[in-house]
Amino acid sequence: METVVSGIRSTGNLHLGNYFGALTNFSRMQYENKCYFFIADYHSLTTHPTPSDLHGHVRQVISEYLACGLDPEAATIYIQSDLNEVAELYLLLNMIAYVGELERTTTFKEKVRLQPDNVNAGLLTYPVLMAADIIIHKASKVPVGKDQEPHLEMTRKFARRFNNMYNVNYFPEPEAYNFGRSLVKVPGLDGTGKMGKTEGNGIFLVDDEKTIRKKVMAAVTDSGPVEQNQEMSEPIKNLFTIMEFVSDPSVIDYFREKYNSCEIRYGELKKQLAHDLNLFIEPIREKIYAISSDDEYLRKVVKTGAEKARESAVKTLGEVRELIGFKPF
Ligand code: TYM
Repeated sequence: METVVSGIRSTGNLHLGNYFGALTNFSRMQYENKCYFFIADYHSLTTHPTPSDLHGHVRQVISEYLACGLDPEAATIYIQSDLNEVAELYLLLNMIAYVGELERTTTFKEKVRLQPDNVNAGLLTYPVLMAADIIIHKASKVPVGKDQEPHLEMTRKFARRFNNMYNVNYFPEPEAYNFGRSLVKVPGLDGTGKMGKTEGNGIFLVDDEKTIRKKVMAAVTDSGPVEQNQEMSEPIKNLFTIMEFVSDPSVIDYFREKYNSCEIRYGELKKQLAHDLNLFIEPIREKIYAISSDDEYLRKVVKTGAEKARESAVKTLGEVRELIGFKPF
């Protein structure tokens, strides 16, 4: 049995990238391992949400987690800011994280490029907080998408550095994990890059049929192949990649053949993709609506989750303080 930790920032509704990167196959995962899934609301503060947006997003993400099949009886589901111990471990790890290595992290450099007006210290130390989230439960596996690999690398570095500094073998070095498959990057509908919350290129788990159709029909394509077996352009490759997540293999083969023989009509492909996406999302969407209106259930899940998660966090933090040399008089 492994200890598994995974988190999602509460910055908006979940999309297909989140689902296939971090949320699939809960059923096997949670009954065979010790799982902690949390909502990273401290992390979301780097984007400066209003108090009501912050709360609303946390509530939404919990409902979405549960709708994706997370079972609060089997796994521990909690809100990051309910564990003070995470904040304290973050402080302690900041002492062994070097500014130079944080500045060199690819995800930080990307943020600096995208939001030059809000390069706060929380962004710089984002990987330290993420490491604290993971090692507070001494996890060995972390379900994430491909974009999180650099953060996992940093987590291993901090865990190793702590062990070396205090001459112990205390923290495991956790690995990124996607339920036994290789890590994924779900592309967006805008032709390049990954599906994201803020990029306006995503299909959300709450999207209704009409919204899905509208988004897919507006997806970027090209002017079509002009010779047989022509290499696909990135936007077309991306549409096929999304199809691979939700469509039947025979459907994908059909459109691949049409592409290779230059007979493809992108309108037909998009209609099929929109249909398959809706079939996939519909049951999740319905569950999200049912769960998010059940206040009492949500309150119970969050309370029980915080209690269970705190038990493990308090134990780790106590041991860490002792290893560092904090002692009672
Ligand atoms: P966030 O909210 O940005 O992403 C949550 C998860 O969704 C995955 N993901 C994707 N996977 C594949 N294709 C995509 N297009 C795509 N977009 C998002 C991300 O890889 C991630 O697994 N920093 C984390 C939150 C976090 C965390 C943690 C995760 C904070 N502490 C500790 C694991 C363990 C993040 O990126 O959230």
